[in-house]
Amino acid sequence: MKILVLGGAGYIGSHTVYELIDAGENVVIVDNLETGHIEAVHPKAAFYQGDIRDRSFIDSVFDKEADIDAVIHFAANSLVGESMVNPLKYYDNNLCGTKVLLESMVAHNIDKIVFSSTAATYGEPERIPIMEDDCTAPTNTYGETKLSMEKMFKWTGKAHGLRFVSLRYFNACGAHISGQIGEAHKPETHLIPLILQVPLGQRDHISIFGNDYPTKDGTCVRDYIHVTDLAQAHILAVKYLMEGNESNIFNLGNGIGFTVNEVIETARKVTGDPIKAEMEDRRAGDPAQLIASSDKARSILGWKPQHADLEEIIATAWKWHSTHPNGYAK
Ligand code: UFG
Repeated sequence: MKILVLGGAGYIGSHTVYELIDAGENVVIVDNLETGHIEAVHPKAAFYQGDIRDRSFIDSVFDKEADIDAVIHFAANSLVGESMVNPLKYYDNNLCGTKVLLESMVAHNIDKIVFSSTAATYGEPERIPIMEDDCTAPTNTYGETKLSMEKMFKWTGKAHGLRFVSLRYFNACGAHISGQIGEAHKPETHLIPLILQVPLGQRDHISIFGNDYPTKDGTCVRDYIHVTDLAQAHILAVKYLMEGNESNIFNLGNGIGFTVNEVIETARKVTGDPIKAEMEDRRAGDPAQLIASSDKARSILGWKPQHADLEEIIATAWKWHSTHPNGYAK
């Protein structure tokens, strides 16, 4: 297969490219390198630097790279906090970018797309575990734009025969088993990389955002899912579409929740560092618990996460961060 990966230099995109190439697929990457990293681009993939909002650029990629079987779309901004401060940036990149992409796909008769969506489409969950047909009421602009992107695929599909799979990730984490690629956001806002900055000597302590939630130890519960397991789900989703199946939406998580305290404790065990933690006020907009039901992905896509153990997840993150303390920067 020949797969176009948009955002293939980003965190989840680069891990998906590594899995696709390991599986023997032909990969073309598009990335504007605004948040992606040239060092994360797999050497065996064709790479085009450019922006999906630029119609002539994206048209030129489809023209040069004939016979693309499917698109995997990661090219979006993804920081919840930033999306609340600068919502129009999210509408512009996430929604306008996807509109231009879809126009170009329709014009080039490319009719299959796998989409990087998020648990943030649900907002405050109505029940745990969260099922795909539960109410979607995002509480931030990031989640709202991802939900709107899903709807853009749906209506474009109805009009033009395009089919899509939307993968709603819970908390993506960990790094490639080789330690060659990993998570490198600026600014970093995610729990596990922030915790690991303490043993790296880059941060004095980790702040725990609230201990008065209705959970077993008062701290928030999340469903942490290894990035390579997410990557595998994208490959299965492409195969699902290639087999002629209908558009669909799947949650991706392990179905197990860990509290912030449990994640910190596990990181202490993995790193052997006492990792100082300090209690702080709640962070605005954090739901108490987010846990996926991924039964649908398991039964329909045949997805089986291989790295569900939190200690293993953090060990892969630690291998990456301890050997790349400044991310991809030299
Ligand atoms: N947390 C802390 N201290 C920190 C950072 C995070 O206590 O320094 C807590 C958060 O309050 C939260 C948990 O750790 O309870 C996980 O926080 P992350 O920022 O790592 O992840 P989120 O659960 O906020 O975000 C994830 C995805 C988003 C998605 C969101 C859906 O990363 O893309 O779930 O709500 F939008």
